Amino acid sequence: MKDLRLIVVSNRLPALREDTDWKSGRVNLAGGLVTALLPFMEQSGKGLWVGWNGRGTSLRGSGRWKQLDHPLVRLLGMELSEKDLAEYYNGFCNRTLWPMFHCFQARVRVDYGEQKTYFTVNKKFSRVLTHHLEPDDIVWVHDYHMVPLGQLLRQAGFRGPLGFFLHIPFPPLELIELLPNPVGFMKAWLAYDVVGFHTERYSENYFEVISRLRLAKREEDRLVFAEGRQRVMANPIGINPAIFRPKKKTRRPAAKGKSVRMSADCRVVIGVDRLDYSKGIPDRMLSFEYFLRHRPAWRRKVCMVQICSPTRTRVREYREQKEMVDNLVGRINGLLSEHDWHPINYLYRSYDQADLASFYRDADVALVTPLRDGMNLVAMEYVAAQDPEDPGVLVLSKYAGVAEYFPDTILVNPYIMESVADGLVKPSPCPFPNGSPSISP
Ligand code: G6P
Repeated sequence: MKDLRLIVVSNRLPALREDTDWKSGRVNLAGGLVTALLPFMEQSGKGLWVGWNGRGTSLRGSGRWKQLDHPLVRLLGMELSEKDLAEYYNGFCNRTLWPMFHCFQARVRVDYGEQKTYFTVNKKFSRVLTHHLEPDDIVWVHDYHMVPLGQLLRQAGFRGPLGFFLHIPFPPLELIELLPNPVGFMKAWLAYDVVGFHTERYSENYFEVISRLRLAKREEDRLVFAEGRQRVMANPIGINPAIFRPKKKTRRPAAKGKSVRMSADCRVVIGVDRLDYSKGIPDRMLSFEYFLRHRPAWRRKVCMVQICSPTRTRVREYREQKEMVDNLVGRINGLLSEHDWHPINYLYRSYDQADLASFYRDADVALVTPLRDGMNLVAMEYVAAQDPEDPGVLVLSKYAGVAEYFPDTILVNPYIMESVADGLVKPSPCPFPNGSPSISP
């Protein structure tokens, strides 16, 4: 029997940086989506992954593609012009859809020109895909950048199975209605045979939006409409825990890896995030300041290590967020530091998974407090990295999708400083064999 071929489409190709050598023809795959999809790729025949190649080009080069080879998958890198990137990626994707799906209503900004470019770029993807698709292929489209792609592929004549997975939250109707044409936008979702979300709450929101816009009727886990049916699923993305699992028995000192501990008697509270406003980094820092002011016995005995990886730096809101974090760290450290201790160790850079695994193991607490987050893999990575006999404590926002799957951890409201500060000292109900100690000064 002929192998089924899986075609993955995402805005960004995995592990491609600006310095990727397209001429060498070979590439190492890395990243959360790759880890999640590799098992499927191993099962199917050699697949194809289509996405933006990570660089800007001239307007004339836009829509062209080059290919890279990997034993499991052929990567097809789309070229996008600087104009496309400004209007599609920085604009409609990250200044309209991102805040809308994350319920930051006041940040949603709609520009008709950017919306048009969003569709034009999706058409470019559809054209390239149509050129490569065979009738038996399975197409799996990922995330908010590519919503209209399914409809465009159907219009181009593709009849094979089409799936879509949304990696961010799906909001209530009030948010979707911020778009100029909510019905048109939501109709495009019905082109997919299967639509997947991280959590039940998101899939319930989706059912509700489609029903209230009268686009289809719900029948259990399906939508039924004149042109067909669609299956709706809540299936979370995960991590590969083996990558983060401790290799040695003890957590401290970090198993020969790098350490983030300032001194042996200073506890570590770690945060690891892209520097995105949805992650609530300023709120977290303010909560930590509140904690130190209201529980002064903790001063000099705990340090917050906040790793922020740079992200979407061409988008104004992200530059403003960085400025806000830079200023807060300066203010809090300036006011509370002692000559031999400072409360916040702020690292504006990315680390590889091996370093992160030893940082997670080293830390007494992970403070994962997004204001809203589709899933949040840092919470999973932190848990996977712990030594079950000497685990750290996860303090988690109730607004992270992963909270639906980790109900036994310490859940906090990131909008309330007192709630986060309490979470830091609450006895942990963590499901590790020995239970987990609350931190005490
Ligand atoms: C979120 C989105 C992904 C995106 C990632 C990084 O997790 O769901 O689709 O790739 O952020 O953002 P970036 O804009 O750098 O691709």
